[in-house]
Order: sequence, then structure tokens, then C-alpha cells
Amino acid sequence: MEISRPRGTRDFLSKEMKQRKYVENTLRRVFENYGYGEIKTPIFEDLKLFTEKSGEAIKEEIYHFKDKGERDLALRPELTAPVARLYLNELQRHPKPIKMYYFGSCFRYERPQAGRFRQFWQFGCELIGGKSPEAEAEVIAMAAHALEEMGLKDYKFHIGNLGIIRSLLKDAEVPDDEQQQIMGLIDKGDVEELETLLNNLNVSDSLKNILLQLIGIKGHNEVIGEVRSIIKNCKGAFKSLDDLEELLNLLETFGFTNYIVDLGIARGLDYYTGIVFEIYVHGLGAQKQISGGGTYNLIEIFGGEPVESTGFAFGFDRVMEALKKQDTEIPVKGHVNVFVAPLSNDMREEAFKIAQNLRKYGISTDVDLARRKVKKILSYADNLEAKYVVLVGARDIADGKVTLKNMESGDQELIDLNILSQDLGQKLNGR
Ligand code: HAM
Repeated sequence: MEISRPRGTRDFLSKEMKQRKYVENTLRRVFENYGYGEIKTPIFEDLKLFTEKSGEAIKEEIYHFKDKGERDLALRPELTAPVARLYLNELQRHPKPIKMYYFGSCFRYERPQAGRFRQFWQFGCELIGGKSPEAEAEVIAMAAHALEEMGLKDYKFHIGNLGIIRSLLKDAEVPDDEQQQIMGLIDKGDVEELETLLNNLNVSDSLKNILLQLIGIKGHNEVIGEVRSIIKNCKGAFKSLDDLEELLNLLETFGFTNYIVDLGIARGLDYYTGIVFEIYVHGLGAQKQISGGGTYNLIEIFGGEPVESTGFAFGFDRVMEALKKQDTEIPVKGHVNVFVAPLSNDMREEAFKIAQNLRKYGISTDVDLARRKVKKILSYADNLEAKYVVLVGARDIADGKVTLKNMESGDQELIDLNILSQDLGQKLNGR
């Protein structure tokens, strides 16, 4: 019987895991340098956590099930709602803003394709409370800083404010469900379908033209004036545009200008209230969006106080894909530095003792467990990319010595057993 992996999932071998770990640690370092602390939430949550805001339709896209106690549970499709829940359960009295970051797997019942999986990882953050343009600017600047540290190139931030289009729709008294449909098509970027929808709904020609013009606008902060002249006299939309302008000015202060204003950013998840952004990497094809986020008010939706928050999440797998596509160097070290090889059967116990001493000294060491001949051991050690092999021969041992072979140069030297650990420590780490 052949049992295969579930659709949309992957196995990672150790070389790839090392690369992922390296990138994960780079992100960890940057997020912590901005004052974020790591948190962990459960992989499964109460199903209601995800249906409360998004409605029952979201069930189509998530893995949900009843447990043996008939509770409705779901594998998390993302981590913002779980973090809002965590805040409500544990942190309501905590001084704000609260800066938290997370790294964990998410599950979505999607049609798998390149860059789109059913189990994938997100590395993200939430800055809870203290909504201000400076908080939003800092969050965006941190995302940019993280990409820079990873050595990623050819990316662009698309920044918008949902409040602009939402206010226009609200002012025109477009019903909520129709607004939802309109935002959905804006998010899909399907202008033709949007036009057809607007024609079918009871939307005035002037609003229709304004919407189509707005979502087509893309540019640096100079487009703000253009947007202002299009939205004419909608107060709410002006307020959101002012917020966007203030944010863009602050981004300069934080040293970040690699963005375009894009009012077509609507975000698939419907908890956002203001600033939204997405990061695209050129050359990744349909799944080029490596990150998304914005400002939201989930905590109030879950019954808490109105605590506005901002966050984003990198699609970790897409970041890895982009780094690989761009041939970015990700340092990967072999996992054993030293291999201990007994030259004869009676030297096996001696080899184990030596290996244990090296491990206790903090040197990653492997030892022959397959009772192989020296030639085979050397080729196995070579395959593991071990830097040194300790050859344990009876005659040397009688003199309190072993032979140390440098696998790169092929050089061999006789060395006193009682200084082997220090000597190797020095050679490997300079200690
Ligand atoms: P999201 O845009 O749905 O936002 O997901 C964030 C990122 O996860 C996406 O930009 C994408 O790179 C990656 N992603 C999404 N689905 C998949 C998939 N099926 N396979 C591979 N990668 C995927 C959120 O989840 C929000 N919670 C982000 C946020 C945090 N907003 C505020 N705080």
C-alpha cells in the first residue's frame, strides 16, 4: 500500500529546513529589533473565531471538523483572529501598544498550485492598540527592513486605504451585501467583472466612473492630488485620503519609499478598516503576493473595546520561493563537523567514547554505526560534508593518539587524544 502526502502539503528535507531556519531566524532578529515579542497560539481554534466576521461562506475555504465532544473546530487559516482572541483572553489590561509576532502553519482548503498550498507558513506580527499613522508607518518600514535583511530584490509595496472606496459606497447608500460584492471584485482585480456588476446594481454612473478611475490609479505620493480631485465632496473619503497622505509622508521619515499608492488593494479578509498593503515580487507569477496586511478592528467585533490594530504576515513559503528564484545566497552548513571512524572492529568502543567526548564539548559529531570498512566510512562522511574525520587505529590508541584527517585538503596529522576536543574546537570555531 502506498500512502502519499495529502494534496497541497509538502515534506521538507534537512537541507531545505536549514534554509528555512536561516530565513526564519533573520525575520525573528528583525522583528525583535523593532520590539516585538514572540507568541504561539493553538493550531486549531473554535470555528466561530473565523466565521464571526467573515460569515458562513468562509467555511468553504477552511478545514473544519467536529471533535469527539461535538465541538466545532477549525484549523487556523491565518493568525490575526487567533491573536485578537489571545488579546481578549489574556492581555486586555496590558499597556498598549502591544507588539507581538508569530511564526506558524496555516491551513486553507484551496486549489493547490505553484506557491499556493493547503498547509503553508506565515511569519507575521500584530501591533495591538495605539493606532496612528506612525504605528502604521513603523509596521510597513519593518516589513521592508526584513526583506532587505533577507536580500530579496524586485519587490514593491502597494499601499491603499479601504476607507476611501468604502466611504464613497456608504455615502451613496449602497447596501452592505452589494458593497461586499464590489470589494470582492476589486480584490480580485477583475475590472471587467466589476464593471458588469456595477452596471447591474443600482449604482449611479458618476459613482461607477469614480470607482473605476480610483482603482486604476497607481503611482507615488503625487497621485494623492489626483485622487482628491476625483472624490470631490465625500467627507469620509477625504479623511481616509488624508490619513493615507500622512502615512506616506511618515514613510519617508522611516527611510522607506519603495511603494506605489494602489486603491485597488481591497484584501480578501474582511476585517480591515483603513490602511491596507500588499507586497508583490516580480517574477513569481500568479502567486506573487508575498505579504499582506493593514489596519483592522477585530477586537471590537469579538466583543472587546474598540482597539484598532495593525499587522501583516509574510507568506513564508512564497518568500522562500522568491529567494530561490532570485538565487539569493542562503548559508547552509553541513550538520556534522566531525566523523569518528574506527579502523578495526576492536576500536569501535574507543570510537564511541571519542565521539561522546567531542559531543559533550559541543562539537557536532557522528560515528560509524553500520560497522563499515574505512573506505566506505570515508565516502559516507564525505557525503555528510563532515569537515574532519578522526581515524581510530589500535597502534595510535596504544600511544594515546588518533589521526585527524582534514576532508577538504586531505591532510592528515597525528594528534594527542587528550587535546583532540580543544584542537578541533579551535579549528572549527576558533575557540
Ligand atoms: P493574507 O493575505 O490572507 O493575510 O495572507 C498573508 C500571506 O500569506 C499572503 O500574502 C500570501 O503570501 C500567504 N498565503 C496566503 N494563502 C496562501 C496559500 N494558500 N499558500 C501559500 N501562501 C499563502 C492574512 O492572513 C492576514 N492575517 C495578514 C494580517 C496580519 N493582517 C493583519 N495582520
